[in-house]
Amino acid sequence: MKIDPWSSSTYQDYSRLRDEFGIEDFTEDLWKELPQPHKLLRRGVIFGHRGFQLIHDSVVKNKPWAILTGLMPSGKMHLGHKMVIDEVIYYQSIGADINIAVADIEAFATRGYSLEETEYYALNEYIPNYVALGLKPEKCRIYFQSKHQDVKDLAYILGKKTNWSQMQATYGFNGTSNMTHIFAPLVQTGDILHVQLDKYGGNRPTLVPVGVDQDPHIRLSRDIAQAHRLYNVTITKDDKIGVFVKIDKEISKLLDNAEKILKQLNFNKLKRITDYKALYIQDAEEEDIPKIDEALALTETKLGGYGFIQPSATFHRFITGLTGEKMSSSKPDSAIFLTDSPKESTKKIMNAKTGGAVTLEEQKKHGGKPDECVVYELFLYHLIEDDKELQEIYNDCKNGKKMCGQCKKYAAQQMEKLLLDIQEKRKTAKEKIKKYLD
Ligand code: TRP
Ligand code: SF4
Repeated sequence: MKIDPWSSSTYQDYSRLRDEFGIEDFTEDLWKELPQPHKLLRRGVIFGHRGFQLIHDSVVKNKPWAILTGLMPSGKMHLGHKMVIDEVIYYQSIGADINIAVADIEAFATRGYSLEETEYYALNEYIPNYVALGLKPEKCRIYFQSKHQDVKDLAYILGKKTNWSQMQATYGFNGTSNMTHIFAPLVQTGDILHVQLDKYGGNRPTLVPVGVDQDPHIRLSRDIAQAHRLYNVTITKDDKIGVFVKIDKEISKLLDNAEKILKQLNFNKLKRITDYKALYIQDAEEEDIPKIDEALALTETKLGGYGFIQPSATFHRFITGLTGEKMSSSKPDSAIFLTDSPKESTKKIMNAKTGGAVTLEEQKKHGGKPDECVVYELFLYHLIEDDKELQEIYNDCKNGKKMCGQCKKYAAQQMEKLLLDIQEKRKTAKEKIKKYLD
């Protein structure tokens, strides 16, 4: 199995995906201490992560951290795209600085849009919607990939430690793949890692909230971040904890620096073996490794390195389309667009595929199946804030107390409120967006 970020497949079995790709379970201990955890976190819509512990710790200890995510503006923005922005807005409210890439190079490379078309969709559709949904200009930067020199430079420079075999294995590229497409994941790595350059806030934990289709890019970025470090802190096969210098220049100077940092961290039983480019720490435990690694990372830029902290990521499930297939801009009946009129959205909801039984009688007797119902998904992902109310809908559906007709009507009403609110706010948004653009 391979995750293809450019295919239009849907994913059903999220726990299998998690196991197969080594994505970690997004357990309650990771979000429950965050201030007023967002519904997508509480409800298991975000089902997996890589390295979220770092973000958790930064929030709890009030240390700086960043958000970087990106969207390909191609066509109209729908409820599926809204999820990432909802997450971003929540993280902004708890103190992250926000960076959003307009993935115009990627849209050009993989979807056949021109840079001008993408710009049009970004300025007239996507970014006004971000603002209408509640994104604030404070601590927020939105930029276009094609116009960001530092991002493009990093893409080139960081490509040095990535080879063709790795790109083939990760993305299934072959001899017919075009070079712009092949290069797009490196641009995305440039997006993800550039926020750790000094100019953009320096080395700090960075969270990339995305759909699970983006995991190959996350793996690539994490590998590349690690590959460009000057130090590697690890436990050896014979159970020793050591700091290893990864380059062949100025080894003594780098070992001196490591020694100084370790002493500051109160490790004193150090043994240097210059031939192995190693500094063994005899009084460290395995649990100390992340702390040591972070402390060393923060010294690397002064020594000519990048000191990247491996980016963290969360993965959300995809909302099902109203017709039961994937929600997609190319199938207007499957999607509710943020620019739909209430009349349009109501019509789509009334025609939606529910988990109801074939006859009313049967549904009263055996109940409905909220877990297989796209209307219930609308409540879960977008329409209902209160967990208790959601639980009631779930129970009433299962117990046969709620029928699909009335349930859809309620969903349509709530959706109308949401869309009217966004529409209202979008009116002034276009003026405001100048403040956001880098
Ligand atoms: N590849 C993403 C998509 O298909 C868009 C994207 C570009 C992105 N750069 C990014 C996502 C950086 C997360 C982080 O929608
Ligand atoms: Fe879905 Fe509501 Fe019907 Fe239950 S009653 S199956 S939640 S539409």
